[in-house]
Amino acid sequence: MKEDPESKESLTVVDNRTGLTYEIPIKDQAVNASDFRKIKEHERDFGLLVYDPSFVNTASCRSAITFIDGDQGVLEYRGYPIEELAKKSTFLETAYLLIKGELPTSAELDAWTNEIRTHTYMHEKMKMFMEGFQYDAHPMGMLIATVAAMSTIYRDARDVTDPESREANTIRLIAKMPTVAAFTYRHNRGLPYVYPDNDLTYVGNFLSMLWKMAEPQYAPSPVLERAIDVLFILHADHEQNCSTNAMRSVGSSESDPYSSTAAAAAALYGPLHGGANEAVINMLNGIGDKKNIPDFVRRVKEGEGLLWGFGHRVYKNYDPRAEIIKQTADEVFELTGPNPLLEIALELERIALEDDYFIERKLYPNVDFYSGIIYQALGFPVDMFPALFAIPRTAGWLAQWREMLEDKERKIARPRQLFVGESRRPYVPMDQR
Ligand code: CMC
Repeated sequence: MKEDPESKESLTVVDNRTGLTYEIPIKDQAVNASDFRKIKEHERDFGLLVYDPSFVNTASCRSAITFIDGDQGVLEYRGYPIEELAKKSTFLETAYLLIKGELPTSAELDAWTNEIRTHTYMHEKMKMFMEGFQYDAHPMGMLIATVAAMSTIYRDARDVTDPESREANTIRLIAKMPTVAAFTYRHNRGLPYVYPDNDLTYVGNFLSMLWKMAEPQYAPSPVLERAIDVLFILHADHEQNCSTNAMRSVGSSESDPYSSTAAAAAALYGPLHGGANEAVINMLNGIGDKKNIPDFVRRVKEGEGLLWGFGHRVYKNYDPRAEIIKQTADEVFELTGPNPLLEIALELERIALEDDYFIERKLYPNVDFYSGIIYQALGFPVDMFPALFAIPRTAGWLAQWREMLEDKERKIARPRQLFVGESRRPYVPMDQR
């Protein structure tokens, strides 16, 4: 391709049906899909639509929150590289950064931490609501339903145009998410729910609500506390992924943040998204032994299933979060002892990364490939994994939701379709079908 010295920031489109030429402006490396509507074959036509099932090449918003360069394996929150945040920040500080746009001063962080810490308790009615679930209910089903039900308690949340209401309910959601997740765990174990201990850190309190038994105060291991804090930082946001798109889409109708967050969590639940770490463990257990890996990889290549925890819509290189998780795994295993699945995972990664099938398709380990192995070593049951993802991602969902509500270009999300059904036909009476 040659560069034209008189090049303009536009696209010249010739409609070969009519011979007409159109000039479509290019801004920020994108064309506006609505500009194509002026391209018509006949005056009464609707205009040209842009067809993009599953949004593989559609920017649905402008966002200043998270930047990803999928080819280079770069992830930044508000301009700060994920590697630095994982090393130097805490989850609550990162949540502040995502939501407010800047790192907090020491006083701002204290105030923010204090606000979150004093909103960790759940309404007793919500606790009773959770007690109504079947003894072996999936934690994510419980979490989704409970978060949605919280909108019935915080009725002020419906006023999404009020910045004060947005702020209050942002804090409530970030504060209560660990409580909801921990209650799902205790419920599944048949154990009494443990109320929050606000003397502990965000993660320390979460661990206390999960594992406290008869001791007067639960003392979390600082190594495990930090490991989970790092995992929370890594999972806090990931620009316009499936669940964030659900958050923005539902929120665009001005639903309250609890209903929108429940919708986002529902999207996260699926195995192609936040449920993938659960699928990875099931896959590794299924492989069972390193000697079975070549046969497993062969079956994947023959289309018999997926290599879970591999591939990404955006990353066509190593997912930077997977790299950090691998390092965190070493620290955790030093304390907990090795997870036998790690050996299988490392060998599986090695074989896959040398295989043409995965090389050609640019399939690398994603965040879920190793996170489940750590969660398991930490003592979490597999079906808690997506809930562990939902806790930190709530900060990202809310940052994106707030940005969406303040966006001057905001409209209700409403895609078009290409209708491929029957054209108009008369109703057929029952006796003639
Ligand atoms: N194992 C085997 N083949 C794969 C995989 C995989 N994990 N991922 C993609 N492919 C193949 C796919 O079959 C396709 O092959 P072909 O060109 O022959 O049809 C090619 O690679 C391109 O894949 P795609 O389906 O067009 O990619 P996508 O961008 O639509 O999907 C993905 C992305 C993450 C859904 C997919 O890679 C996948 O299903 N991975 C496994 C599930 C997983 O680990 N999800 C977690 C994602 S990261 C965390 C998160 O988002 O929550």
